[in-house]
Amino acid sequence: MIINLLMAVVSVSVYPVQTLDNGLALTPTMGWLHWERFMCNTDCDMDPDNCIREELYMQMADVMVKEGWLEAGYEYVCIDDCWPHHQRDPQGRLQADPKRFPSGIKKLADYVHSKGLKLGIYADVGSKTCAGYPGSLGYYETDAKTFAEWGVDLLKFDGCYMNWTMLGEGYKNMSRALNQTGRSIVYSCEWPLYEWAYHEPNYTAIRETCNHWRNFADVYDSWSSIKTILDWTATNQRFIAPAAGPGGWNDPDMLVIGNFGLSHNQQQSQMALWAIMAAPLMMSNDLRDICPKSKELLQNRRVIAINQDPLGKQGNRTGVVDQFEMWERPLSGGRLALAILNRQEIGGPRRFPLTLATLPSYQYCNPMCNVTQILPMYQELGVQGLFSKLLLKINPSGTALLTVTHISINATILS
Ligand code: GLA
Repeated sequence: MIINLLMAVVSVSVYPVQTLDNGLALTPTMGWLHWERFMCNTDCDMDPDNCIREELYMQMADVMVKEGWLEAGYEYVCIDDCWPHHQRDPQGRLQADPKRFPSGIKKLADYVHSKGLKLGIYADVGSKTCAGYPGSLGYYETDAKTFAEWGVDLLKFDGCYMNWTMLGEGYKNMSRALNQTGRSIVYSCEWPLYEWAYHEPNYTAIRETCNHWRNFADVYDSWSSIKTILDWTATNQRFIAPAAGPGGWNDPDMLVIGNFGLSHNQQQSQMALWAIMAAPLMMSNDLRDICPKSKELLQNRRVIAINQDPLGKQGNRTGVVDQFEMWERPLSGGRLALAILNRQEIGGPRRFPLTLATLPSYQYCNPMCNVTQILPMYQELGVQGLFSKLLLKINPSGTALLTVTHISINATILS
């Protein structure tokens, strides 16, 4: 009996969670990724400042250190599609485009590392990348080894040009190949995105294989794109949210804050909801030229702390009333993050009467709680009871982000 019990304890502690066991991404990955802003711009003659070449990543790395991005937590500088040469080398290895990356990826990794940052790269599980560059099918071990030798710290592995029935094996084989290199490489997958068209993906297997995974279409620089991502996530939260936790995260795609398409209220909404969703925070913008308000929002320590909360539970949409959406995320230390998004896009600011007793997570305020508003601006709302009513003013397509901290009766008596 005791031996059985001991065995049970041992087996539980050997397999605490079924997750990719590389010890990485214990909180959602933070960094910068070129795709949404710079896409597949390879025209360095006409557009030298915005084309995909080594200078772009070096400049971004410089700014990330100088302008407080690294200090705020943004650590990974990531290359997306369109970096490779169209042919592999005589040994079958991927090589960077020699014109645009004359120093090679290893030198670029050294540069990025010398700044205290990490380097991400992009490849594809199928025969070609989405933009038509060489894919990794048939070369998983070679490519994993090449990336490790170059000193790469993150791989975004896309799913174009692959028979969907082979996606699972492909993603698992690359996961194994990365582990076998012995280098710590965050593994960012797009496996479920390419599977949803055919059937419900197996999130247990995905979590065992990847550090984060894209579920849905590419983000664009527009509010309608952000809304579609939020609606897809809410509709499918029962499948995807339970899979998230330290080591593995749902990836709703890049932050487009600081670009052209979102109003400031909408930028605040993206930041707040990406924090609630425990999403990787990969900015795709031009950090060399970003407006101070967007910068302040992206570097907002309180919002980042919600995103990076060590409990690692993904939040859910818990209610929709009168075109207000309520999203809730449990945090460590008996706290709750609460976002209220005003989905009405006509008229001015609207008032949302928040009665804490009606929250699905009302127990955080039973009998009392401390409420802090984080967005649109920081404000202590003080101690509240279960039946307190808070009147929140929320702009069209804007979000109020709050934290609610439970106050236990013992603490009340003691204080
Ligand atoms: C797919 C991915 C994008 C980006 C492009 C590159 O569309 O979903 O994030 O990587 O490919 O071609």
